[in-house]
Amino acid sequence: MNPTPLAAAPNPAPRAGPIRRILELPDELVSQIAAGEVVERPASVVRELVDNALDAGATQITLRLMAGGVRSIVVEDDGCGIEPQDLPLALKRHATSKIASLADLESVTTMGFRGEALAAVASVSDLSLTSRTAGAAHAWRLHARTGELQAAARAQGSTVEVDELFFSTPARRKFLKTDATELAHALDAVRRHALARPEVGFAVWHEGRLVAQWRAGSELARLADVLGADFMAASRPLQAERGPLALHGRAGQPEVARARADMQYVFVNGRFVRDRLISHAVRSAYEDQLHGARQPAYVLFLRIAPELVDVNVHPTKIEVRFRDGRAVHQAVRFAVEDALAATRATLGSTRDTHSAAADAAIAAVAAAPTAALPRAWQASLALPEAPPSVRESAPPWPASDPPRRTPQGSGGLAAWAGLLGGAATSADTAAWPLGRAVAQIGGVYVLAENQQGLVVVDMHAAHERIVYERLKRAAQAGGERPLPAQPLLIPISFAATAAEVATAEAEADTLHALGLDVSLLSATTLVVRSRPAALPDADLAELTRSVLAELGSVEAGGASRLVQRARDDILATMACHGAVRANRRLTLEEMNALLREMETTERADTCNHGRPTWRQVTMKELDALFLRGR
Ligand SMILES: Nc1ncnc2c1ncn2[C@@H]1O[C@H](COP(=O)(O)OP(=O)(O)OP(=O)(O)O)[C@@H](O)[C@H]1O
Ligand SMILES: [Mg+2]
Repeated sequence: MNPTPLAAAPNPAPRAGPIRRILELPDELVSQIAAGEVVERPASVVRELVDNALDAGATQITLRLMAGGVRSIVVEDDGCGIEPQDLPLALKRHATSKIASLADLESVTTMGFRGEALAAVASVSDLSLTSRTAGAAHAWRLHARTGELQAAARAQGSTVEVDELFFSTPARRKFLKTDATELAHALDAVRRHALARPEVGFAVWHEGRLVAQWRAGSELARLADVLGADFMAASRPLQAERGPLALHGRAGQPEVARARADMQYVFVNGRFVRDRLISHAVRSAYEDQLHGARQPAYVLFLRIAPELVDVNVHPTKIEVRFRDGRAVHQAVRFAVEDALAATRATLGSTRDTHSAAADAAIAAVAAAPTAALPRAWQASLALPEAPPSVRESAPPWPASDPPRRTPQGSGGLAAWAGLLGGAATSADTAAWPLGRAVAQIGGVYVLAENQQGLVVVDMHAAHERIVYERLKRAAQAGGERPLPAQPLLIPISFAATAAEVATAEAEADTLHALGLDVSLLSATTLVVRSRPAALPDADLAELTRSVLAELGSVEAGGASRLVQRARDDILATMACHGAVRANRRLTLEEMNALLREMETTERADTCNHGRPTWRQVTMKELDALFLRGR
């Protein structure tokens, strides 16, 4: 248990010895070597035995562990069982009932297919296998080490008992951690199976105590059981289908992100896998909503035609290889992005799958009037696209702006009727998810009243997200074209460092594409001649400096992904400068406009740095504050 300090470790220098004869290794040693790859700790045994039980069609699987599984692991199932004459074969290497040909291997749908798990486990433990098939008069028990076969009693199904793991390979045993840690790993293994197979019941006993139990039921109930109510409340369902690939699951909101990557479950055709391609795809969907060091929480189930995925690439089958990795990456990324784009506000307070109430809330938002705004705000907040008749009158938005994408179908005549003077009725107010603005406090927070109680909005954070999403849309709509720019009547110059000057020269094209025309006035002075039309209020010298710093830090010559990401980073920087600053006094109309805009902006629940933009304080919580019994 006490590892030798590195410094004191003997250094086994390679030594040329006398030529040795080549020998065939005895079967048992071959198995023990193979077991090294498959069986690392009790949890590996648990995984293999539960895989087998599932392949046998079990509906209830019970595990009994002693000393974290090191002393004993017993797995009982009610599956199809094994004929007595096949029992010895089950323990033999390269013997399996699951595939018979290469074609079978290429379209395998069972968890197992190598025919070596039981042999491997048996070579490093004291294993016995008891099984009874449907029509049999009684069960049979085979003891692996002695080969003894005896009549036994049990109902249909199989029991595998694995005692004294690694007793014959003490070097391996030394690597084991405390019983509690080994138990935790074993439970993790069962949890993964439980997530993938909600129709199967699982129970885990440790030292005679029931430590986990998941009853057979619906997938939603199982997810809630295994992942907890907090995750369910703060995650969004996702679903997508693309040709031979179907995908569903849940993506946790940024606020339930974790310090460790311990709530990331990916299943491919029911098999838990760790896949860099998929985790990268998910990560990129969270890119501008999550602080770099935070780990998103998610569960993803992929179904794909078995011919399009190779499951035979890793001894423990924890990795797979996709025929078309790009398609999988895109499907995953888009599905997670879509799930995250919907905000709690636009979905109403019901927080879960699309409900009638949520639809009603969305419809109300779509029809809600957008309050009249000061000019500066009209430019920096996206307004619904005007119908042609209204467009003739002086448009309050920069003409070059692309129409906003309206995910909830907002915009149209109703919104414009409101903008041109209609007042909100109380029915509208009640339906607004973020409610009616009532005050601004501390120069930072907007307070609003909605059906649930009090809404508190961080106005800078919220506006920053709105402007950012708008810039991204403008950039996407424009493709390669530059962002709309506004020439300055009086150019702005500022003192610049040598690094800033160098970046401005090298990146003149990029700056132009961002709506900033920057040139050199002297060796230490830069001049800005245009501003991004979307950012009428930004301090230009500050903005330019930040963008230059951002550009200077971009790794040169990356893949297009990197460029895209760099551009998003720059847009985020620009959004921060374009967003309303603390201590700016807002009118009620401005506050309401901000709330309505949040309701129709994707990802409006978090700012670009992953912090929340608003919080709900319910009437119940307010009552509790004042000790008011209801
Ligand atoms: N719980 C069980 N119920 C019924 N049959 C079982 C059970 N466990 C094992 N078997 C039978 O024993 C065989 C060998 O099991 P083993 O786990 O060693 O290999 P496998 O599952 O075929 O492949 P892999 O090595 O990939 O797990 C299986 O193919 C299956 O026929
Ligand atoms: Mg198996």
